[in-house]
Amino acid sequence: DGPFSEKLRVPEALTFDDVLLRPKESRVEPDDADVKSRVSKNVELNVPVLSAAMDTVTESEMAIEMARQGGLGVLHRNMEVDTMVDEIERVKRADELIIRDVVTANPEQTVREVDGMMARQGVSGAPVVDDDDEVLGIISGTDIRPYLEVGDKDEVREAMTDEVITATETVTAREALELMYEHKIERVPIVDEENHLTGLVTMQGVLQRREYGEAVRDEDGHLRVGVAVGPFETDRAVAADEAGADVLFIDCAHAHNLNVIDGAREIKESVDADVVVGNIGTREAAEDIVDFADGLKVGIGPGSICTTRVVSGSGMPQITAISQVADVATQHDVPVIADGGIRYSGDAIKSIAAGADAVMLGSYFAGTDEAPGRVITIEGKKYKQYRGMGSVGAMKSGDGSRYLKDDPQDEDEYVPEGVEAAKPYKGTLESELHQLVGGMQSGMGYVGAETIPAFKERSEFVRISPAGQQESHAHDVMITDEAPNYSPGE
Ligand code: XMP
Repeated sequence: DGPFSEKLRVPEALTFDDVLLRPKESRVEPDDADVKSRVSKNVELNVPVLSAAMDTVTESEMAIEMARQGGLGVLHRNMEVDTMVDEIERVKRADELIIRDVVTANPEQTVREVDGMMARQGVSGAPVVDDDDEVLGIISGTDIRPYLEVGDKDEVREAMTDEVITATETVTAREALELMYEHKIERVPIVDEENHLTGLVTMQGVLQRREYGEAVRDEDGHLRVGVAVGPFETDRAVAADEAGADVLFIDCAHAHNLNVIDGAREIKESVDADVVVGNIGTREAAEDIVDFADGLKVGIGPGSICTTRVVSGSGMPQITAISQVADVATQHDVPVIADGGIRYSGDAIKSIAAGADAVMLGSYFAGTDEAPGRVITIEGKKYKQYRGMGSVGAMKSGDGSRYLKDDPQDEDEYVPEGVEAAKPYKGTLESELHQLVGGMQSGMGYVGAETIPAFKERSEFVRISPAGQQESHAHDVMITDEAPNYSPGE
């Protein structure tokens, strides 16, 4: 035997279709399975699912809806830093309990003017403030209506209600609602110690927040958001951190590159937000990163639009990759995110059994309304564009540094590691997530685990053959009605 033939005594590496969860005794009803988990040391999720940092998957619209539904959206980095800051702020402003851009009235305006202003701004009432923003009263459609009949030139000062119920910055949604019920009002101005207006809480706003009982919020009640940054983009990372990003994701195809680790370490030292480092796929990579990372992201080439493995000849089948990283991460209490290759809810819950705390998906969400881009029709069927961030198109429109070596001068010089594609149009993210999470809960039911930590411990795999794999899919039938959570090899 020589050194090269020795190399062929190879360890086996498995992926989703190689294994199944072994059914076990259970009293757990899927609906009772609790999917709460963590994405990083300090950030918990109600639903252990992330939308991928890709320019055809996650911008603010997706991130807002992901957080409302209990997961986390990770904004891609194919945008200027200023745009990224705007996007973070958009997520942070959505569903705010205290509105900051308050439409106000001035006591000297006429009721007619204020009536027109409120109609234009789409509000039904406004605090009345003087030039120093001191709250003098509040005016609503009900106050104005009688004046419009008789004297629409009267001043707001006459028409407004001058006994205003206010609250301070520390007000909670419950307290605000109680004030509104008690005083039969629909809005509560927020004031500082000198009675200056700092914001407004509205009944509509409180009720809207209630609709999203599972939403994931920061300490100030704002929706949480993740942001991708390059390993050498310390400036972008600092800007994202200052704008309020909750988790930064070092976005790199091979984070076990020692220069990347140096860059990631520098970023970690420069920000307050949690820093997740990835992607990696081996035990050794985890060991070199786990001491400073708040989370480890796993996936070398499993993605649906990835060609890394065929282009570079390198990669690691995802179930083995997750398990190797999780072996190390668990010892340090660092969460693991399984990124890429998840086609079905079964793949997602298998990832958790292999040791992940949360999963990241691109293709699964690319066809939803909330993903950027418009719906296109091909031969009568609706699609949305989906492309790898290492595809020529994505690299050309951004800086593509995740996959780029040197800045190419013309198209032939790109060596892409991804393709540009289309995904069938899927409707709302909410319904896609419902199927995904419902399927994951179902897996927890089969294994008999009521929580994610219990599931990680109790679940076991069996190895299956290609025949077993074939048996798993719908077979020997012609599907007549599309199921919402299953489309064989679309
Ligand atoms: P899915 O399977 O959910 O995978 O579509 C999404 C993940 O794929 C990674 N990604 C890429 N990998 N070339 C690659 O090798 C690419 O062009 C590319 N773009 C995205 C990324 O980790 C994403 O979350």
